Amino acid sequence: MRRTKVTVVGAGNVGATCAQRIAERDYADVVLVDIVEGLPQGKALDMNQSGPVVGYEPNLVGTNNYGDTSGSDIFIITSGLARQPGMSRDDLLQRNKEIVGSVAREAADRSPDAILIVVTNPLDAMCHVAYDATKFPRQRVFGMAGILDSARFRAFLAWELGVSAKDVNGFVLGGHGDTMVPCVSYTTVAGVPVEQRISSNRLEEIVQRTRDGGAEIVKLLAKGSAYYAPAAAVAEMVDAIVLDQSRILPCAALCEGEYGIDGLFVGVPIRLGAEGIEEIVEIELNDHEREDLGKSADSVRELVATLAQV
Ligand code: NAI
Ligand code: 2OP
Repeated sequence: MRRTKVTVVGAGNVGATCAQRIAERDYADVVLVDIVEGLPQGKALDMNQSGPVVGYEPNLVGTNNYGDTSGSDIFIITSGLARQPGMSRDDLLQRNKEIVGSVAREAADRSPDAILIVVTNPLDAMCHVAYDATKFPRQRVFGMAGILDSARFRAFLAWELGVSAKDVNGFVLGGHGDTMVPCVSYTTVAGVPVEQRISSNRLEEIVQRTRDGGAEIVKLLAKGSAYYAPAAAVAEMVDAIVLDQSRILPCAALCEGEYGIDGLFVGVPIRLGAEGIEEIVEIELNDHEREDLGKSADSVRELVATLAQV
């Protein structure tokens, strides 16, 4: 039986950690691509040498050549630049638009049946770039952010209550930015609504810390941004696809009328399985959450409008 083939583009912090987590699952062969010569080769070789110790097949390939990615089942895009001093947000948008667009075209040319997972920021806008470049159906192009934002929310709540994070459920919708929407009304601890366990003022502080979750790590690291939790979130999506799990996960998906949003990638709950998005799951939001999701979609729409001009 042929093993699943997963390509990860970008052998930096997020991409290499994704490759490691996926290789450790031992259900797929992994191709790691970067423009920097030697970087993906060196990291793949190092990961292959962990195989005998950890217990997975040493089947990673590191490359600068997209020929090696042909026939991939899943294509993960983490390549891109972080904002540098002196670089405007629009400059970053333009550079990452070029990078994600060119990588997505390589994916479409060589792996026309692949499912594409976008990670590069600004996430929701980069999903549009990848979708436009590949012309894949919306079932096969989506972005990772909501699982990460939800994981941060769940970790903060578990610490607050002194319970296992496994017993905290909840999710964050909307764009991957300041306007994200942690859905408090659907957040539970062992099935009990979190609003019954934590005061509204304290919950608001935890919601705000979640919104600032990426920035908090950037400030601590001083150089670079989060990658362990982002890579774990990507691997959870890959599990759902490879193992055909029909997981309900918050991901950036192209809404076509769902939640009253049309023609825009925004974080919403999706049912994710072997074919990609099986369904965008519409849950009943309270008025406050629905309004916040609308505002978050508006800010993504503004970014996408800027994208068309850069
Ligand atoms: P990094 O700087 O460590 O790695 C980026 C890699 O992309 C570098 O190795 C670089 O050489 C490579 N690259 C640049 N242009 C390329 C091209 N044309 N083809 C192939 N490779 C190319 O950055 P890191 O930390 O891995 O982050 C990657 C991206 O993921 C950033 O845009 C970051 O903001 C984003 N991110 C998104 C998250 C999300 O929730 N969606 C979470 C964390 C990071
Ligand atoms: C994060 O939320 C940088 O988007 C990245 O950590």
